[in-house]
Amino acid sequence: MKRKIDVGVVGCGYWGPLLVRNFKSLPDCQLKAVCDVNAARLKHLGELYADVEGMSDPQQMLNDSNLDAVVIATPVKLHYPLAKASLLAGKHTFIEKPMASSSAECEELIEIAERNGLVLMLDHTYVYSSPVEKIAQIVQAGDLGEIRYINCRRLNLGLFQKDINVAWDLAPHDISIILHILDEFPTTINCQGNAHITPGVEDVTNMSLSFSRKRFATIQSSWLEPRKIREMTIVGTRRMIVYDDLRTLEKIRIYDTRVERPPHYDSFAEFQYSYHYGDSYIPYIHQEEPLKLACQHFLDCINTNSEPLTNGRRGLEMVRILEAASASLKMSGAPVTFSGPNGAAPAPKLPKTEEVLGAGNGAHGVTHPTKAAAEAFAMSS
Ligand SMILES: NC(=O)c1ccc[n+]([C@@H]2O[C@H](COP(=O)([O-])OP(=O)(O)OC[C@H]3O[C@@H](n4cnc5c(N)ncnc54)[C@H](O)[C@@H]3O)[C@@H](O)[C@H]2O)c1
Repeated sequence: MKRKIDVGVVGCGYWGPLLVRNFKSLPDCQLKAVCDVNAARLKHLGELYADVEGMSDPQQMLNDSNLDAVVIATPVKLHYPLAKASLLAGKHTFIEKPMASSSAECEELIEIAERNGLVLMLDHTYVYSSPVEKIAQIVQAGDLGEIRYINCRRLNLGLFQKDINVAWDLAPHDISIILHILDEFPTTINCQGNAHITPGVEDVTNMSLSFSRKRFATIQSSWLEPRKIREMTIVGTRRMIVYDDLRTLEKIRIYDTRVERPPHYDSFAEFQYSYHYGDSYIPYIHQEEPLKLACQHFLDCINTNSEPLTNGRRGLEMVRILEAASASLKMSGAPVTFSGPNGAAPAPKLPKTEEVLGAGNGAHGVTHPTKAAAEAFAMSS
């Protein structure tokens, strides 16, 4: 029988309250405490959840021996010290993306979690999203043919961060989706950008990840865009997908569109590109709130003593890619070689989502997400 997990959430700014709402709603969990140094945020959460204890010092939460797990949704520079203290206090720990400010910090957190037999999970939320899972299934079944490139645009006005640039803030979403879809690591990373508002903090970046077989992905991230855009195009040799995460329904459209060169031609006059314009169709996607699935997965991993799909190593890989992007930024976009996890050969296979979460649509363990909640995720992340 499942045991109820006692959870506390540290950081109740913009994203923390969504985690609070989700953990509060899950039957496998008792949300015991929330913590924020900002008294106004604590008061606000106290008004919403009168039965949850409010704390202004994370150490108070860590001292609570009845608490099983801690969720960290603070500014990124605090992820490492808070997660380290949480793990050393024997708490299973859920950290918002990106895991920490450096790969050395990530490695230390992984080591502490492994040594103490604790669950360490990263909130790479999109890995738990149904549209992304659908795209991964379509791509991995070969329906698009060979992938040629992926283009991602995650743009909006703000919210400006002080401790990380826009690549560290927004690109982790796209990187997690790309790695999940392509099922391998990049070989080279380039990144260019500019800091227009806060000196030294890039607010617009263009990142490019190169993969084996001449495939690549581009990620445009901006806090300086008048419109909010969350779009991804996946171009294959046979078909193409456009994924618009801001659409409430019909987030994915598959285009039976391609361009081919004639296999043989004798003269230039005979040469004709062959443009194929076929049908486009919208696959059915079961609407589930990704953040709720991620929260449920964390609880399941604690209950079954298993490794999360987005474990510390996934967090480390993400931070290593971001570090490579930062190194490239400093060199005006020069390519930086990425050697795969822990210096291993590039392009290792990642485990499949269904292997970790179980097969089927309801297998993520949550069966009652609302359309409104899915919309809330699309609008907020
Ligand atoms: N998964 C997603 O889709 C997603 C979306 C947005 C943000 N995030 C992540 O969530 C985290 C928080 O981002 P945000 O936008 O909510 O930031 P925010 O600045 O709005 O909120 C951070 C909160 O942490 C509090 N805080 C700061 N120091 C603290 C301390 N020592 N102890 C307790 N509380 C403290 C602040 O007072 C603030 O209320 C970041 O890691 C961000 O990358 C994830």
